[in-house]
Amino acid sequence: MTDSNSCNIVVLISGSGSNLQAIIDDLAEHPTARICAVISNKADAYGLVRAEQAGIAQHVLNHKDFADRLAFDQALMNVIDQHQADLVVLAGFMRILTPEFTRHYAQRLLNIHPSLLPKHKGLNTHQRALDAGDQTHGCSVHFVTEELDGGPVVIQATLPIQAEDTANDLAIRVHALEHQIYPLAVRWFADGRLHLSDQGAVLDGQYLASSGFQFHS
Ligand code: GAR
Repeated sequence: MTDSNSCNIVVLISGSGSNLQAIIDDLAEHPTARICAVISNKADAYGLVRAEQAGIAQHVLNHKDFADRLAFDQALMNVIDQHQADLVVLAGFMRILTPEFTRHYAQRLLNIHPSLLPKHKGLNTHQRALDAGDQTHGCSVHFVTEELDGGPVVIQATLPIQAEDTANDLAIRVHALEHQIYPLAVRWFADGRLHLSDQGAVLDGQYLASSGFQFHS
């Protein structure tokens, strides 16, 4: 941490930013962490409006303005590091990150993914859960490593899939769970209760199972 009382968080978004909002709301009651900046790769991301309304600095870095993935990631790292981030939170940031980026933020980079990892890495997770005939679905917060959606899971929330569910139904219910588990994981990290060791994610001194802490609302 940059000082003993505060965890500086930078949040990366590409869209609506409802997870960002959930974290903003949670941290309003949690003075040991603060969001220093929100960065979007899309100028029209509604999450930027949420950041502005909360008085948080905003940056737009359009990936299309850069020669390649690495040039974009390097520019991103420059902005993040200006804010002396202790934790980088990916909240619907829809870019594949280079190994240079994930190594630079090793052990201080979290992501939320709309599936019960390791199931359904990548995109269209709700439809894929339906197509696979899964009986349960959910979301996972995980530390980010070089493997896409593959880093150690911190926390998962599970819901039952009903026979009549559409992908949109699942998206709505999963989102509601995301808004509960992401702020919790961020708070654990900010409070020094959560870290990543060589052997996996550790919460309160105990190694977490590969499926992470199982959240029940
Ligand atoms: C969330 O459902 C998040 O899990 C997903 O994007 C959505 C962002 O919503 N992330 C991914 O799919 C990353 N692979 P939000 O902008 O409202 O927070």
